[in-house]
Amino acid sequence: MEGLWLVVLMIFEMALSVQSQLRTGFYSTSCLRAEAIVRSTVDSYFTKDPTIAAGLLRLHFHDCFVQSDGPSWSVPTGRRDGRVSLSSQASNLPSPLDSVAAQKQKFSDKGLDDQDLVTLVGAHTIGQTHCQIIRYRLYNFTATGNADPTINQSFLSQLQALCPKNGDGTKPVPLDKDSQTDFDTSFFKNVRDGNGVLESDQRLWDDAATRHVVKKYAGTIRGLFGLRFDTEFRQAMVKMSSIEVKTGTDGEIRKVCSKFN
Ligand code: HEM
Ligand SMILES: *[C@@H]1O[C@H](CO)[C@@H](O)[C@H](O)[C@H]1NC(C)=O
Ligand SMILES: *[C@@H]1O[C@H](CO)[C@@H](O)[C@H](O)[C@H]1NC(C)=O
Repeated sequence: MEGLWLVVLMIFEMALSVQSQLRTGFYSTSCLRAEAIVRSTVDSYFTKDPTIAAGLLRLHFHDCFVQSDGPSWSVPTGRRDGRVSLSSQASNLPSPLDSVAAQKQKFSDKGLDDQDLVTLVGAHTIGQTHCQIIRYRLYNFTATGNADPTINQSFLSQLQALCPKNGDGTKPVPLDKDSQTDFDTSFFKNVRDGNGVLESDQRLWDDAATRHVVKKYAGTIRGLFGLRFDTEFRQAMVKMSSIEVKTGTDGEIRKVCSKFN
């Protein structure tokens, strides 16, 4: 639970504290203690419902990536029904079907390198997906209608039990099979062991550069100074939060969250 709390703070604090245009206290003349207000508000909601951490984290990622013609909040990528709908506006948004090459390209288009990619996708250490997003991997991946051969055999049985062929597509599936609520490194161990839930997560093992980063976080490289996930995640979040930031008169601050001014 500590970990989740940290994530929420990181989003709001780190995003505000970087680079020339982003700094803590930006609103100090117009909204004194803005950061403290956001922090305590998120804290009180988090106490009531810890799952908001994953939702906020994902929302923040989408907001950083989708440079749409319209407002980024409006692009529906993960729908209520759990189906992924990629609008043309969101074509630059990573998809769970992306190869590692496609993921690398989409991140590098935003100035994020392979280490940033693996680190940030490590956010999938919390939160969940849904049966209909992953069902094709379990029953209809190969031309002959078999499962994705890169799924760990015992995990495949578990996933098939959780998501039967014609079962409820909206059923939730944890993205990190061992510890859905802990912000830990087990996500990387899962990818190493063939226990990644999304295809895009598992594909991080296909490429030498991304595999190397996964190994470091998973702690499989002994004797080497491994990367520290918590430290690196903060830094990568700051970097991601700095993508195409709107400043000055760009964009608008909505008066009503769900509507253009
Ligand atoms: C290649 C990049 C990525 C892809 C393809 C991807 C894809 C997905 C998909 C398909 C889901 C499940 C949605 C659903 O079933 O409704 C998901 C959930 C999530 N994603 Fe990602 N994601 C990526 C990167 C990231 C990044 C960079 C972050 C944050 C830094 C992030 C944070 C999350 C979180 C926290 C959830 C769980 C949401 C919840 O439980 O409500 N993802 N992602
Ligand atoms: C299986 O996948 C193929 C190719 O992606 C697709 O055309 C077909 O509709 C799928 N079958 C089922 C039952 O989902
Ligand atoms: C399958 O997953 C288990 C942990 O759930 C792991 O111990 C095992 O090594 C994995 N198998 C392979 C081939 O990676």
